[in-house]
Amino acid sequence: MSTGTGNPMDVIESVSGLQSRADAYRSAGRRIALVPTMGALHEGHLALVREAKRHADGVWVSIFVNPTQFGAGEDLSRYPRTLEADLAHCRAEGVDAVFLPDAAEMYPPGSQTWVEVNELAKPLCGKSRPEHFRGVATVVSKLFLAAKPHVAVFGEKDFQQLAVIRRMVVDLGFDVRVVGVPIVRESDGLALSSRNQHLDASTRSQALSLSRALDSAQRALDAGIRAVPALLHLVAVELDKAPAGRIDYAELRDPDSLKPVGNPLDAPTLLALAVVFMLPDGREVRLIDNRVLKPQPPGSAFSEKQP
Ligand code: PAF
Repeated sequence: MSTGTGNPMDVIESVSGLQSRADAYRSAGRRIALVPTMGALHEGHLALVREAKRHADGVWVSIFVNPTQFGAGEDLSRYPRTLEADLAHCRAEGVDAVFLPDAAEMYPPGSQTWVEVNELAKPLCGKSRPEHFRGVATVVSKLFLAAKPHVAVFGEKDFQQLAVIRRMVVDLGFDVRVVGVPIVRESDGLALSSRNQHLDASTRSQALSLSRALDSAQRALDAGIRAVPALLHLVAVELDKAPAGRIDYAELRDPDSLKPVGNPLDAPTLLALAVVFMLPDGREVRLIDNRVLKPQPPGSAFSEKQP
């Protein structure tokens, strides 16, 4: 399928078509960077594309709203779909190819093969979305097998997803280098997310409670407070300022294992948040955000305040 603009960007719909392209690229000694997405592209995705360019000769973007990572009652049917704008963004960024499969291409009739990462998928988002990471790991494996990339680029906003994918790549021996890209935020701190487009003005302003909670915890750490209950209290105070929000989780975890951390904090620690916002029309939007908090090194000016 041609993009119809005279731009050389190809749009490929079949796994076999992408595999042939990958084989040709690789035979010519060219490096491929894949940016897997579900579309509704925003500046956060474009940052992934720009990072991908630094690692390869060709950047390929996949756009596929993966049904298996949505649970029953989640927002699959109303996940934003903005294909024309997405293709325009990709062209403008100099993307070489967009992979645009349909569900039957990714999950052939009778599909029954899954990729499951165990412990890392259980806490945080895995608690309320028990099948989510199985869907992610499965589709990302399929994308890797289709695109045969040297490098794959993912956003750190989905911190747990990145941890799951890194583990999967090691466990299954995928010859793919996984690169994480820092969260891109609006000027007021809101982390970019395709789901932000669902927010009305009032809920959007309440959604700032997530980044404010992260800031508040880091400020407290900078001031020498390292006690876990005190930090989580400060986080809850910020999140509670959003009356439309229901906290799904607000947790401090080891950034590598995602296991709970000891008290007080003595090493870089992931603060991960998920809040479900109720919109005025009764629909829900679930937003996540995170930061790896850095405690003051021992012996620094504020470390004496430590309880
Ligand atoms: O982060 C996303 O957009 C999706 O989870 C991914 C990695 C494209 C898999 O569907």
